[in-house]
Amino acid sequence: VDTFIANYQRVTRGTGRLMLFAGDQKVEHLNDDFFGDGIHEDDSSPLHLFRIASEGKVGVFATQYGLVVRYGMDFPDIPYLVKLNSKTHLVKTQQKDPYSPLLVSVQDVVDLRDRTGLAIAAVGYTIYIGSEYESEMMREAQQVILDAHKNGMLVVLWIYPRGAAVKDEKDPHLIAGAAGVAAALGADYVKVNAPKKEGTPSSELLKEAVLAAGRTKVVCAGGSSIDEKKFIQELYDQIHTGGASGNATGRNIHQKGLAAAVRFTEAIYAITVEGATVDEAWKI
Ligand code: FBP
Repeated sequence: VDTFIANYQRVTRGTGRLMLFAGDQKVEHLNDDFFGDGIHEDDSSPLHLFRIASEGKVGVFATQYGLVVRYGMDFPDIPYLVKLNSKTHLVKTQQKDPYSPLLVSVQDVVDLRDRTGLAIAAVGYTIYIGSEYESEMMREAQQVILDAHKNGMLVVLWIYPRGAAVKDEKDPHLIAGAAGVAAALGADYVKVNAPKKEGTPSSELLKEAVLAAGRTKVVCAGGSSIDEKKFIQELYDQIHTGGASGNATGRNIHQKGLAAAVRFTEAIYAITVEGATVDEAWKI
């Protein structure tokens, strides 16, 4: 319990609000998010993610086990979340319903934490509800939560409705359902895509999910890179109108060069954890 509370205090600075820097896309999206038009050349190496997480302001840096093993010892100051399952985007949902298997166990992560002394404060797992494989993922997620909590680590579930049975994965009612599943499994945080109605996002639409999640806190995924000011305003609205307890942002941070990425983590952190206004965050 003490370790759990210490981790919770550390990653949220005692506010309960989570700024999650998402760096798990090397598997999820292969190299698409790290190389190409509009992406800074710094982003072509995994080192970039660690430098941002170390020099910037983040609650936790979420990435896969192998990257933490390879780079973690050079960046012992970073609070980590190890993403336990992952899959690539090569097999499309239209071809086969998604399944993202557990790649490492909570025990592997605990062993790594105890062996290295790294600040591994949390683990993460993705469930695709609506997939024909949802029962496997729910069972794995439930076990992850039991094992992580026994070992003092927080759990963030990424839950995305996805598969042949899902007509509209951004449907606000379905996203609220996903948030409720996370609550029923006992997750500390649930990461959902921002809901949309007829293709239009609105933080009002998030309220149903926040209510459904109850004591599990809701954070929204960042999405592809957009205008910085628009991003900050949307984040502010998700928190102050929608009732979100933070954010999970990847591409909007790491596709910039190091200095700009570090600055943007500071702006996001200010809104998420430090209670800043949009104008205050923009001045950073
Ligand atoms: P971004 O901020 O880059 O969108 O990252 C958030 C995230 O949830 C990642 O953690 C994950 O790898 C990815 O998006 C999943 O995206 P998709 O919807 O393509 O499965």
